[in-house]
Amino acid sequence: MDALATLLTDKIDCNLLQQAKKLRIIAQYAVGYDNIDVECATRLGIYVTNTPGVLTEATAELTWALLMAVARRIVEADHFVRWGEWWRLRTGWHPKMMLGVELKGKTLGIIGLGRIGSRVAEIAKAFGMKVIYYDRNRREDLEKKLGVEYRDLDTLLQEADIVTIHVPLTKETYHMINEERLKKMKRSALLINTARGAVIDTEALAKALREGWIAGAGLDVHESEPLDPNHPITAFKNVVLLPHIGSATYETRHRMAELVAENLIAFYKGEIPPTLVNKDVVKVRKPGFG
Ligand code: NAP
Ligand code: GLV
Ligand code: GLV
Repeated sequence: MDALATLLTDKIDCNLLQQAKKLRIIAQYAVGYDNIDVECATRLGIYVTNTPGVLTEATAELTWALLMAVARRIVEADHFVRWGEWWRLRTGWHPKMMLGVELKGKTLGIIGLGRIGSRVAEIAKAFGMKVIYYDRNRREDLEKKLGVEYRDLDTLLQEADIVTIHVPLTKETYHMINEERLKKMKRSALLINTARGAVIDTEALAKALREGWIAGAGLDVHESEPLDPNHPITAFKNVVLLPHIGSATYETRHRMAELVAENLIAFYKGEIPPTLVNKDVVKVRKPGFG
C-alpha cells in the first residue's frame, strides 16, 4: 500500500514499516501517536500525520466530566439510586449522604500544559481553582495568559488537590506516576488521567487506593485496552472508569476524519501535510507518491 490511515489501536512498528516497501504516509486518526515507531518511519522516509487541535475541546470537556464525576461521586450515586439502595434506606435527603469535595479554592495540578492541558486550565478558572502545572518546558507566555504557576513535578504532586495528566506517552513519561510519586500526593487528592494509561503505573495506583495514599481516581485511558473487568482497579468505588472516550463527540470525530483526509490530499498533491508529526522526514523524501 502507498498510504495508511491508522487508529491508535494499530501497532505500527519498525518491522511492519520495513516490509511496507511502497508506504509513503501514515495518517493517524488521533493526536497521540505512541502506537507508531515515528523514528523508524522518518528514517525510511515515511510521513506521519496526526489530528491535533480538533479534539482539544472534546478531550478537555471529558476531563472535566470525569473530574467532577469523581469529586461528586456521580457514578456511585447513580448506582445507589438505580440499584435500590436509596429506596431501601427510606431516608430520602440526608445531611451526610454521598458527600464529595468542592472545587472552588482548591488547587488543580496539570501535568503537561499543551493544547488539552491549557484548555483544562482555562476551564479551571471558571470554577475558581488555583492552577499549577508541570511541563518539560516552562511556559511563561501561558503562565500570564492562563494565570497558572509552574512547579516541578514532585512539588506539584505535593501541593495539588486534584492532579490531571495531559502529557503524551513517550519513553520519558512511561510510568511517570509511580509508587514513589503517588506517595507524595495528598491523602485527600484525586488523580485524573485522559492522556495515556501507561503514564501511570496502574499496579502502584491500585496499591495507593487500597492503602489510602490518595482519595480517588478517574481514568479514561488504561495500560491495556480494553480494560479487563477483573483488573484490581475495577474494585474501587472511588474510581470512575471510562473506555477511552476523550475525543468521542460527533463534532470532533467529524473534524478528525476531515483532518486525516486533508493530510492525505496535501501529500498526494506533493505538499507538506498540514499536521505533519515528523518534520525531519522532508530531508529524507519529498512529499507525494511520485
Ligand atoms: P500537546 O499539545 O503536545 O501537549 C502535551 C504537552 O506535554 C506539551 O506541552 C509537551 O511539551 C508536554 N510533554 C511532552 N513530553 C513531556 C515530558 N516528558 N515531561 C513533561 N511534559 C512533557 O498534546 P495534546 O494535544 O494536548 O494531547 C496530549 C495527549 O493527550 C496526547 O498525546 C494523547 O495521548 C492524549 N489524548 C487522549 C485522548 C483521549 O481520548 N483520552 C484524546 C486526545 C488526546 P512539548 O510541547 O515540549 O512537546
Ligand atoms: C486519543 O486518544 C488521541 O490521542 O487522539
Ligand atoms: C437541598 O436540596 C437544599 O435545598 O438545601
